[in-house]
Amino acid sequence: MRKVNSSLKINPEFGIIGGMKMIDGKKLAENLRAEIAAKVAVLKETRNITPGLAVILVGENPASVSYVTAKEKACKEAGMNSIEIRLEESTTEEELIKRIHDLNKDDAVHGILVQLPLPRHISEKAVIEAIAPGKDVDGFTPVNIGRMMIGEECFIPCTPHGIIKLIEFSGMDIAGKHAVVIGRSNIVGKPIAALLARKETNATVTVCHTGTPDIGVYTRQADIVVVAAGRPNTLRADMLKPGAVVIDVGVNRIPDPSKPKGYRLVGDADTEECAQVASAITPVPGGVGPMTITMLLWNTLQAAERKQAK
Ligand code: GUN
Repeated sequence: MRKVNSSLKINPEFGIIGGMKMIDGKKLAENLRAEIAAKVAVLKETRNITPGLAVILVGENPASVSYVTAKEKACKEAGMNSIEIRLEESTTEEELIKRIHDLNKDDAVHGILVQLPLPRHISEKAVIEAIAPGKDVDGFTPVNIGRMMIGEECFIPCTPHGIIKLIEFSGMDIAGKHAVVIGRSNIVGKPIAALLARKETNATVTVCHTGTPDIGVYTRQADIVVVAAGRPNTLRADMLKPGAVVIDVGVNRIPDPSKPKGYRLVGDADTEECAQVASAITPVPGGVGPMTITMLLWNTLQAAERKQAK
């Protein structure tokens, strides 16, 4: 069984950035990606297998285009095959599912990722369920989510898996701590709450969401706060207990004419303010994002290794 604490090692030298109490997700990601690339090289050398990741993008949502491009680049840099599939916005659900069925049968493809969100005329549920669980490197299929909940071998969703690594990297021992998760999405909130509460991790977990009247009541008692609300300034300094570790999952585009692209990215926490109270916080960008892609590479490597073991 693959535990959350995978065999990827965290180098404690790559901790906090300067005196800023920022958890350097880019450094941690670089460190782990070097280890993944070394394992890919061994797999090629000893078994003649090159892990292959198929990334499907439907339409041209600008944020999705940039995420997908970053995933494909990271895949190639790790020595894996990147199978890039770009489909028109008008692609039908049937056409997309047919492409997935073909990839399910293709031995050169070890992982399949369909970038979300999909155009409104396509059912995300039907598309996710079409992916073979053994190639579901996002960990989004009901089979993988169910297996994760009962502690069986599975693909752990990439963002929550990366968050566990970032908390460990901050130096905090998670066991026995109180973690508050803000947000209950299927991609982040629900799985990170489940992972933190697992025996291997052993935190006590509270989940806050849009139905929670006063989130600060809970976060002020938290040793760890994971904020995945999708709204800037959801977490402020006066909502934190001194010394808490903050993981900011938010990626929000704020119009900013002084920037070349006309916008800047901010998270869900007021970073500067929270950094005064927290013992460590992830920056946006450069915190959770690079780790999500790293854990995708990790899952793809696992998929290829498992297949060759069969
Ligand atoms: N859209 C936003 N995050 C993700 C992710 O982790 N995987 C996929 N497939 N789509 C996303």
